[in-house]
Amino acid sequence: MAKEFNPDYPSMDDLRNKAMLRIPRFAFEYLDGGCNEDVSVVRNTAEIREVQLQPRYLRNKGISSTKTTVMGMEFDAPFGIAPVGLQGLMWPNSPEILAKAAHKNKIPFILSTVTTMHIERASELTEGNAWFQLYNPAEDSLRDDILNRAEAAQCPVLVLLCDVPTFGYRPRDIRNGLALPPKMSITNILQIMGKPTWAFNTLKYGQPTFETLKPYTPEGLNLKQLGQFMDKTFSGRLNEERIKPIRDKWKGKLVLKGVASEQDAQDAIRLGFDGIIVSNHGGRQLDAAQSTISSLPGIAAKYGDQIEVMMDSGLRSGPDIARAMSSGAKFTFMGRSFLYGCGALGNKGGDHTISMLKTQFKQVMDQLCCERVEDLPKHLIPNESK
Ligand SMILES: Cc1cc2nc3c(=O)[nH]c(=O)nc-3n(C[C@H](O)[C@H](O)[C@H](O)COP(=O)(O)O)c2cc1C
Repeated sequence: MAKEFNPDYPSMDDLRNKAMLRIPRFAFEYLDGGCNEDVSVVRNTAEIREVQLQPRYLRNKGISSTKTTVMGMEFDAPFGIAPVGLQGLMWPNSPEILAKAAHKNKIPFILSTVTTMHIERASELTEGNAWFQLYNPAEDSLRDDILNRAEAAQCPVLVLLCDVPTFGYRPRDIRNGLALPPKMSITNILQIMGKPTWAFNTLKYGQPTFETLKPYTPEGLNLKQLGQFMDKTFSGRLNEERIKPIRDKWKGKLVLKGVASEQDAQDAIRLGFDGIIVSNHGGRQLDAAQSTISSLPGIAAKYGDQIEVMMDSGLRSGPDIARAMSSGAKFTFMGRSFLYGCGALGNKGGDHTISMLKTQFKQVMDQLCCERVEDLPKHLIPNESK
C-alpha cells in the first residue's frame, strides 16, 4: 500500500460517512445531493454496478500498469478530478489540497469557473497542468478575458460545459438558502458550531469566494442572487455560434462536458472538439436523465475513433472505474469522491482518495489478467451473455 493510504478509510462509504460528520449539513447536502427527487444520482451508480467483467486466471501476466494517455498527456491512472464549484465551502482550502494531490499523483485536475481558487493559483500548484472548465460567458469580452487568463496560465485543456442551460432544481439547497459566503441564519450557525474543524479551517483560510470571477462578481450573493448573477454572466445554453469563437481562439485541446446523446457527440466532432465527457453532471441537472453508463457504450462505439470519449457521474470505486473503461471510456472523472476525501481527512484527503482508488483499480486489473488499461474492454461481459 502507498504511504498515503489510510487503512481506516478503505472505501468511499468510509470517507463519505466521516465527511458527513465533519461538514455542516447545508454544505454536505450541496455536495452530496442530486436534483429533484435524486433519481438520477442514484441511478448513475446503480447502473454502473450492473456492469460485469470477466477475469482470466490460468494465464501468465506481466505487471499491470494503470498509466494511460488522454488529450496527448500521459497520466498515472485513468481517472481525474472533475470540476466542482464552491469547493472551499464544502471543505476549506480543498481546491488547493486537490490540485496539489492531482499534480503529485500525476492525474488531471479540472478547475471549475465557479470554484474558490483562481486559475492562476491552480496553474502555479500544478506547474501549468491544471485543466480549466468554462461556463459559457454571455459577454464576448468576459469570455475573451477568461480565455486569455487560461492561456497565460498555460492550461493545456479547456473544458466547455454544456449541461447547465438552467440551474439544477435542488430542493435541499433551496431549503438551506445556500449562499456564498454561507448565510448566517440561526440554523446554519448551529450547524457550523457543531463542526469545529470545518469552522476553524474556514477562519484560517478565509471565507470562500468565486476566486476566478472575483474581478467581475458582486459580493455576498444568496442562492437567488447567485442564480441571477449566473444567468446574467453566463448564458447557459450553448450553441454553434457561441462555440465557434471559442474554438477559433483557444489553441489548446478543447473538451465538451455534459454530452448525453449521440447527436451532441456528433456535433462536438463537427465543431472541432478534441474530446467529450459523457456526463449528466453527477445527476444534478436532469432527474429524468439516462445514466452515463448506459449512454456511454453507444457514443464510444460510434465516435470513439474520431474523438476521445471520457466519462463521469456515479463512479465511486476502482471496480467502477474499470467498469466504465470496459464500457468504452478512454478516461474517467469523479466529482464528489474527492470532496468526501477532503471532508474526511482534510489535507491528506486528496492523496488518500487517489491512492485508495488506484489500489482498488489495480486489484481489478490483476484479477482480470489485464496488463494495460486499453485492454479492459476485452473483459466486458455483454448484456446478452449475463
Ligand atoms: C457539488 C458539485 C458541484 C459541481 N460543480 C460543477 C461545476 O462548477 N462545473 C462543472 O463542469 N461540473 C460541476 N459538477 C459536476 C462534476 O464536474 C461531475 O460531472 C460530477 O460530480 C460527476 O459525478 P460524481 O460526483 O458522481 O462523480 C459539480 C458536481 C458537484 C457534486
